Amino acid sequence: MLNKPAPEGGPQGGESAEGQRRRTRGHVVDCDGQRAIILAIVDPAIQHMQNHWAVGQLISIQEGTNRVVGQTYKVESATTRWAESGANSLLIHIELVGEIQERENGETLFSSGIANYPRIGAVAHRIRTFDLAAIYENDSDDTIMVGHLTQDASIAAKIDLEKLISRHFAVVGSTGVGKSTSVSLILRKIIECRSDLRVVILDPHNEFTAAFPAQSVVKDSRNLSLPFWLFNFDEFSEVVFRGQKGLEVEGELLRDFIAEAKERYDDGRDNVARLKKTRASNGYTANSPVAYRLDDLFKVIDERLGQLDGKHEKPAIKALRDRLAAIIRDQRFGFMFGQSNAGGDRMTQVLAEIFRVPHNGRQISIVDMSALPAEVVNSVVSVLSRLVYDLAVSSQGAIQTLLVCEEAHRYVPADREAGFFPTRQAIARIAKEGRKYGAYLGIVSQRPSEIDPSILSQCNTVFAMRLANQADQKIIGGAMTNGAQTSINFLSSIANRECIAFGEALKTPMRMTFENIGKAQLPGSHIYEMRQAVRNGLEVDLTAIVRRMREADQIMQGDPDGIGVTAPAPGVGQRDARRPAFLDDAEQEIAAPFPGGPPPGEPPTIAPSLPQRPSQAGSTGASTSAPPRPLQRSEPAPAPYSDTGARNQGGGSSGKSLIHSFRSRG
Ligand SMILES: Nc1ncnc2c1ncn2[C@@H]1O[C@H](COP(=O)(O)OP(=O)(O)O)[C@@H](O)[C@H]1O
Ligand SMILES: [Mg+2]
Repeated sequence: MLNKPAPEGGPQGGESAEGQRRRTRGHVVDCDGQRAIILAIVDPAIQHMQNHWAVGQLISIQEGTNRVVGQTYKVESATTRWAESGANSLLIHIELVGEIQERENGETLFSSGIANYPRIGAVAHRIRTFDLAAIYENDSDDTIMVGHLTQDASIAAKIDLEKLISRHFAVVGSTGVGKSTSVSLILRKIIECRSDLRVVILDPHNEFTAAFPAQSVVKDSRNLSLPFWLFNFDEFSEVVFRGQKGLEVEGELLRDFIAEAKERYDDGRDNVARLKKTRASNGYTANSPVAYRLDDLFKVIDERLGQLDGKHEKPAIKALRDRLAAIIRDQRFGFMFGQSNAGGDRMTQVLAEIFRVPHNGRQISIVDMSALPAEVVNSVVSVLSRLVYDLAVSSQGAIQTLLVCEEAHRYVPADREAGFFPTRQAIARIAKEGRKYGAYLGIVSQRPSEIDPSILSQCNTVFAMRLANQADQKIIGGAMTNGAQTSINFLSSIANRECIAFGEALKTPMRMTFENIGKAQLPGSHIYEMRQAVRNGLEVDLTAIVRRMREADQIMQGDPDGIGVTAPAPGVGQRDARRPAFLDDAEQEIAAPFPGGPPPGEPPTIAPSLPQRPSQAGSTGASTSAPPRPLQRSEPAPAPYSDTGARNQGGGSSGKSLIHSFRSRG
């Protein structure tokens, strides 16, 4: 509710004759319950801003003491002739948005329902700033300002903080329109107001590090520690078998071995691997979130191999053993298998690092997915999403986490056959039940039509930026609340940084422009800085670049210092402490990681392609935001779906269900 300022030449009340003359008026000539047409005469002799009737503008229609508000979605000439001099008639088509009531005490109040529809002949004109302010006023106690109304920069885009977070949100738009930047802006505002909230960003392009140098820690392939025992069975087998068919026997064996390793795990304080002789009757399954040692897993496997009664299983057990050994030897998986044989329960420590408990002023945890092996991305997202939810539930709401999922169409694709089921399940659980406990979701995508509609429909606030693709426009258009239906027309043409924001966190759908962000705070700013420096004359030092390329390779090859000297091969004179013991004896056995040669279509080993520091893979110190690493690979890992290709064949039908689910939200 706003108090009306002193009349300043507006059309109503104390409008001056000058104001009347200069504000082009029109008259309602057609009206149904949703839309209206206004006939206006424009005289080119009147050269004034207010002479324009343009698509996208809000207009108001005087109806008694109230004013009906509409948004222009089409303007056309009333005839097929256009007079170069003299007056022309225009038909202005509007969608009715709501009504402004003017109280006797001078207060104005906007409501999205309309009590009195405009009569034919009612006077219409461009809306006053004061009415605009009333329409977009957000009277909730806790709002953040993320930009301004596009039509009038003096009106702030105020978003209800609590609803934005707790009812989940989505930012969608074609590549390059400003999604990541807008998300970083929204997140910055959120953490300024909510020091109790944690944010985990799944960052596929290593962009956000640069945007939050002081507010985040970065978990990348060098320092992420997500021990293998945190993976539930499906997640672990996705890493081991990568969805290959025909390995069900090995899968079942693995399930059995893991359960046994957990049941026989002896939490020796002296860090010496021990395996209890008998299985405890503690009911652990392969999914129980308890630690076990890799050495123990291999001992269990070897015991079974040594047993006579398991003879027919032997080839499968051997194949499984070799498969596991090959993965564990692969340095890219260091984040899972570092400290794989350490005793003691590290769960608290691992969770504290990733989920920032305590956060010590750095509330954001950025998981840089760009350097993780493509084979594990699905599992890692699944583990993290699962933990976000479980932590919220188990902490009874004390640990509240907002999971921001960039490129969400990769993890929760609309095609139910695609993607990794446990990831979909974990994210869907946050979307559907997370708010009760404090697990929240922020979805970011350039292909909203390729996101699982049941998850997208749980995002109750949407920032729809420019969308080029029609299927995407349709999905978002279908989600738009009443009063914004015609906004779908603008989705293909709004400017960068602009969006149509609608849903629970806003009182009225709003075409808004996000705040301008300084270059230094842009996601990925380290790359822009480098480009700018080169443009300004910085010489490209190819020698240094080649050196770094080699460094990255040396890191991969076990020379973490990148000094060109590779560490002596473990086993020659000394034992590598980082290395699981079973590998020493496995070494001689395993000539090729896959018995009988690689499976069809698989290379014999996984060629290392990303820089890693195996020595730090299991490091426990939380790293702060790393300085820009210009030469780190920044392209995304090969995505299961390309941005343009592999469109969801069922786009049309899923569109319908989303529209339905959005509308039925009430
Ligand atoms: N709010 C903003 N302020 C300043 N520049 C912006 C803003 N939004 C977008 N940009 C510009 O647009 C570029 C692309 O934005 P980005 O967020 O990376 O797009 P997307 O994530 O949609 O691909 C940015 O690098 C920046 O130059
Ligand atoms: Mg982006």
